[in-house]
Amino acid sequence: MTTQQTLIIGASSDIGMAIAKQVQTDKNTGLLLISRNFKHADMQTSVTNSPQVTKIRVKDYQPQSIDHAITQLAQHNQAPITRVFVCNGILHNDTIKPEKRLEDFDAQSFIQVMTSNTLTPMLWIQKLTPLLTGKSPCTFVLFSARVGSISDNRLGGWYSYRASKAALNMMIKTAAIELARRAKNIKLIAFHPGTTDTPLSKPFQKNVPENKLFSAEFVAKQLLDIVENTPIDQSPSYLDWQGETINW
Ligand SMILES: NC(=O)c1ccc[n+]([C@@H]2O[C@H](COP(=O)([O-])OP(=O)(O)OC[C@H]3O[C@@H](n4cnc5c(N)ncnc54)[C@H](OP(=O)(O)O)[C@@H]3O)[C@@H](O)[C@H]2O)c1
Repeated sequence: MTTQQTLIIGASSDIGMAIAKQVQTDKNTGLLLISRNFKHADMQTSVTNSPQVTKIRVKDYQPQSIDHAITQLAQHNQAPITRVFVCNGILHNDTIKPEKRLEDFDAQSFIQVMTSNTLTPMLWIQKLTPLLTGKSPCTFVLFSARVGSISDNRLGGWYSYRASKAALNMMIKTAAIELARRAKNIKLIAFHPGTTDTPLSKPFQKNVPENKLFSAEFVAKQLLDIVENTPIDQSPSYLDWQGETINW
């Protein structure tokens, strides 16, 4: 019998899929997956085609599309959602490259990075809160990055990505202050997975020592342990893959 549900947003993310696979080994947990794209190889396997899993496809992450997904989610209320993972984030694509110097900064690229890395997760915080508020504890993880730490910025570069994750962190801190008053059962975590072998980090892996390049499976396991062991304390956390606090 399903006693709780785990919601993964941006579920085609390699780390998101690795979380899904590990959650699925617990037969009492239902899985709700939201993505624009269920074509990822893992999405086609029996893992995600089991009755334990509900897939909700969004056209994009515009506010109306998120509203539509929320309506569908509300129909799956057989058990409380106790864990949420918002995996969305871009660092590069066909037209975007992280900036090395001021001359590389491009207004359109900046807007795209801010939209997917800050605005999209913020909309999910806003629109999921009414659904999650209640008696059951809910840990709400948003994928940030250490480079979003303002106090830790010694290397510079990557203007848009850094700024988008710093802005996401500020959204999380600000929302946590409000949730501490009106939704005490929700705990927000900004999470840094470490450099993980996924399409997002592929072009930037060559200087990463082998033991510092993690598999998505390792990071998913670390994160699920962190969620298990982090109390719901009406205060936001900014944690790395070891569960260690990062300074905002
Ligand atoms: N890999 C690393 O080394 C690393 C390090 C630090 C932080 N992170 C963060 O960890 C998270 C997961 O990354 P990953 O490595 O698993 O990346 P990934 O496999 O490349 O996954 C990309 C994710 O971004 C979403 N996405 C792509 N384009 C988008 C757009 N235009 N608007 C909104 N969402 C979009 C995808 O959602 P759909 O399912 O809808 O396609 C998917 O959730 C990201 O937030 C990333 O910034 C990763």
